[in-house]
Amino acid sequence: MRTVHPLNDDWLFLAAYQEGLEQADADESAFVPARLPHTSRELPFNNFDERDSQLISCYRRRIRVAPREGRRVFLHFEGVMAAAKVYYNGAPIAEHLGGYTPFTCELTGLVTGGNDVLAVVVDSHERADIPPFGYVIDYLTYGGIYREVWLEETNEVYLQNVHAMPRKSGGGWRVDLSVSLENGSGATGEAEIACSLTGADGAVRTHRQSAALTGERQQSIDLSFDAGDVRLWGIREPNLYDLRVTLLSDGAALDEFDCRIGFREAAFTPDGFFLNGERVKLRGLNRHQSYPYVGNAMPKRAQERDAELLKRELGVNLARTSHYPQSKHFLNRCDELGLLVFEEIPGWQHIGNDAWKRNAMTALEEMITRDWNHPSIVLWGVRVNESPDDDAFYRETNALAHRLDATRQTGGVRNFEGSHLFEDVYTYNDFLHNGITKALKSRDEVARAHVPYMVTEHNGHMFPTKKVDCEEKRVEHALRHLRVLDSMYGADEISGAIGWCMSDYNTHKDFGSGDKICYHGVTDMFRLPKYAAAAYRSQQDDEVVMEVASGMSQGDRTGSTMDCVYVFTNCDSVRLYKNEAYIGSYAPDRTAFPNLPHPPVIITDFIGELLAANEGFPKKDADRIKRIFAAIIKYGDKSLPLRDRLSMGYVMLKRRLRYDDAVDLFMRYVAGWGSEATEYRFEGYVGDRLAATVLRGASTTAGLNVTPDTLQLVEGDTYDVCRVAMEHVDPFGMTLPYSAEAVRVTVSGAGERIGPELIPLVGGSAAFWVKSAGAGEILVAVESERFGRQELTLRVTRETAP
Ligand code: GAL
Repeated sequence: MRTVHPLNDDWLFLAAYQEGLEQADADESAFVPARLPHTSRELPFNNFDERDSQLISCYRRRIRVAPREGRRVFLHFEGVMAAAKVYYNGAPIAEHLGGYTPFTCELTGLVTGGNDVLAVVVDSHERADIPPFGYVIDYLTYGGIYREVWLEETNEVYLQNVHAMPRKSGGGWRVDLSVSLENGSGATGEAEIACSLTGADGAVRTHRQSAALTGERQQSIDLSFDAGDVRLWGIREPNLYDLRVTLLSDGAALDEFDCRIGFREAAFTPDGFFLNGERVKLRGLNRHQSYPYVGNAMPKRAQERDAELLKRELGVNLARTSHYPQSKHFLNRCDELGLLVFEEIPGWQHIGNDAWKRNAMTALEEMITRDWNHPSIVLWGVRVNESPDDDAFYRETNALAHRLDATRQTGGVRNFEGSHLFEDVYTYNDFLHNGITKALKSRDEVARAHVPYMVTEHNGHMFPTKKVDCEEKRVEHALRHLRVLDSMYGADEISGAIGWCMSDYNTHKDFGSGDKICYHGVTDMFRLPKYAAAAYRSQQDDEVVMEVASGMSQGDRTGSTMDCVYVFTNCDSVRLYKNEAYIGSYAPDRTAFPNLPHPPVIITDFIGELLAANEGFPKKDADRIKRIFAAIIKYGDKSLPLRDRLSMGYVMLKRRLRYDDAVDLFMRYVAGWGSEATEYRFEGYVGDRLAATVLRGASTTAGLNVTPDTLQLVEGDTYDVCRVAMEHVDPFGMTLPYSAEAVRVTVSGAGERIGPELIPLVGGSAAFWVKSAGAGEILVAVESERFGRQELTLRVTRETAP
């Protein structure tokens, strides 16, 4: 059987590599302690020189494992950015080019069991021979050993990989398996492969099959077994099964391979995407794997949380791992949550030379062979994002993907029409919509063929939006996403639309807002929401959503007028009250958004029946006055169209109103100047049931909400992290978008803070991550002059071995 030794702790790190530092007896005095995931250089939040993260660094670690006689020993790296040279006791043992996929090197015969020295020299320069480099890219790649490392001892004969392919067969399901054996000793003879499939209910299905060891170093064995009555994997019910494959010889287990699988049929067709025979419209977001300060170097919990953010807080059903293979922890959580995934090879617009292409092919193979058992993955991206046609190259990538995994379709993201299609799905970034133009091109315009079709990006750079931008901009940002989704929902031939993007991200000088951030996210870099986040979230049916996308402060609006308020909600209707007086009831706007599952509620009347009720005007006159007020809001009193002027003259004459009376009415019912504080209550109804209430009123400070994602951290194979969100809120619970408060965050005990001590609440909110440093208690204090001091205690326990 195999033994796994996590190697994430006890590293030494030096940012400036010099020749000789990989040697066993090198001077380590300048090195500093490090734990993995690790970034070779922490960066400020924004406004930095991205070249700072491009360096050659060195990691060293003692290895004290003593393998038993006859065992093979492997060192496994999940991800090292961008090129790694591995040395063992000073001898070079492996080199890997490419930062997004894992690699393994063999240490058999080299491990002494004493005080061996493992050294890794990491080059995080954007080297032209490694995808995605060679030209510009709109994101940062950072550097370092940023995913986990472990050492594995196996028998001479071991299971190198297992590809499990659940397939429909007759009325039921079977599992086809392709088992890759490594046979170091060239042993021949009879062996046996035993499979056990365990469902969540504990029911186990087993299968045993004999297999002859041929003596070849690498041997592939195919087998198949009936899975019986299975529960399907789907978006709503992501049923997973544990599959254990055991290799036996003479009745003794030589090795075991564990993975999780799901039974599902996924197909992109010219008529849309179907999951288990049912059409599913794919409402997705692109995800970059970066975080503030530490770039890509975040452990399991942060990776998992992004999947939870996408599924639960943003309500999407698909994530694209733009533009590279992402953490296994993220993908595992997608499996568990029922979040579909489109995973693609590293690259951005540029195709390099032959060496580059070879590295791209290797990355493709490493991606598929790492991830082929994830039920969440429904599409392999085998083109470099937005690259030109390269028929020879893309014939090859498609052939390799299909050879490695015949169970999944391929896609490849383009940004131009009429591209040569070698993939199964024409996937296209459609940035047509600019707020005025139609939302999406048709498939015929883009693919020019009756093929499966999906929009893989929209919006993004077309409308960068910061959490601190004015309300109108933040609302328009959300609306642009909804217009695209509406258009996608209205076209059966468009399988889905994946918005750009989940969160803001650090980038190169050629992109973003000049401060090295692309503000393209529906959440900010801390994963805190903009209005667009609620626009997405309101499209799902798992929980009630009602976001009133306004602070109800007309002075924030162009012309100081509140002409319209959007409510992003999945409620059936919204009732509005102003200072307890009922204004009206409003339904989702199916005229503006005919195809969305849940169109926003658009409120343009803030007077309702009040003029009639309070002033005693007959309804006809009250309605006329309301229309005139609406025209004043729209055009301004100085530019009122003739028709409205005449109408105003008529009603003033009829009701014997002087000019001052009319102004007074406008002030009281529209502007609200000088009035007692105005309070709005929005009630969301599902059928007749009051399902949500939101209050809005004059902005005053209530305080600072400090919310940790968890109070319980776990040190497992490595450290754990916890995000703590901070929101400056008003008494109605609304985050104050123009707050400019700053807070001081101190962390002591069994943990440390990631990022700076002083944190500005840009856009009214910010967050920080706390990183565990052993078992114990972490004391977190958040203080400012204005909010005083708040304390949190986080507990860190050590995971006990299963
Ligand atoms: C696309 C590109 C993305 C991102 C986006 C911004 O062209 O594929 O990586 O740069 O534009 O909107």
